[in-house]
Amino acid sequence: METQLLKGREVVSQINVELRTKISLLKEKGVVPGLAAILIGSDPASKVYINSKEKAFKKLNCYTQTFLFNEDTDDNEIISLIKKLNKNDKFHGILIQLPLPGKMDVKKILHTVEPSKDVDGFHPYNLGLLLDGDPNFIPCTPNGIIEILKFYKIDTLGKHAVIVGRSNIVGKPMFALLSQNFKMGNSTVTICHTKTKNLKEITLKADILIAAVGVPNLINGAMVKKGVDIIDVGINRVSNNSIKKYKLVGDVCTEDVIGIANSVTPVPGGVGPLTICMLIHNTVKAALNFSSTRGSTG
Ligand code: GUN
Repeated sequence: METQLLKGREVVSQINVELRTKISLLKEKGVVPGLAAILIGSDPASKVYINSKEKAFKKLNCYTQTFLFNEDTDDNEIISLIKKLNKNDKFHGILIQLPLPGKMDVKKILHTVEPSKDVDGFHPYNLGLLLDGDPNFIPCTPNGIIEILKFYKIDTLGKHAVIVGRSNIVGKPMFALLSQNFKMGNSTVTICHTKTKNLKEITLKADILIAAVGVPNLINGAMVKKGVDIIDVGINRVSNNSIKKYKLVGDVCTEDVIGIANSVTPVPGGVGPLTICMLIHNTVKAALNFSSTRGSTG
């Protein structure tokens, strides 16, 4: 079987056409979509993500400012910054790059973000709307996965979708999206995690397999059914003997599933570009909401 590579950049190019139009309309009203990003500590992957986000925002003429803190920063300092950003009209979205240093109270920090600026969709209010079937901000990676499935015409209705990983960032919101009575939903969804017994037995039954655990090459060729569509969310750094110190691999062993799967997202170049694109989408949405409420009140 020929396996199609689901390339994220092709999907992003299409979405960017629509985003550019919205950004121009906002500009005519004097609004530039703005994102405040908070990076605490020195996690190398987080630094790479923040740089990529800054570049993508600039490319689309959006505004972004990153607030950097060292890992000893007190939670209260971050909370008081978020409260100020909540009131600052220059920023329509606020993002706290995860993971945070271990000693920090992640929930308290995330819950301080005003839901109308929660472009990551991590606030319980926005997660509640998603579960209720009437989402406002959808977490970026799961929303990007839906866009990939839509673009490549991979139907979800009646399919058995297996999600490996139950994180708040990917697994749980992905479950909420695929199980809803949405056009790109209506799947029968199984969610697997570290305590799941006989993972292989379950992954073998997947029509759509989404791996989001952060374990390099966890899913191998013997664990997938012929014709499955595979979304690999993992971006793992593994050491490499060559001059470059590391290489990036997914949660799925791509070489293994080529020839068995109907399609698979490559790593890098699959889901990653969509996460950033959906962040811009959410920030533009927040700016549009801001612009329309400002218009009606002032
Ligand atoms: N770390 C890994 N993925 C994400 C994401 O989507 N948002 C934030 N804020 N941090 C992350």
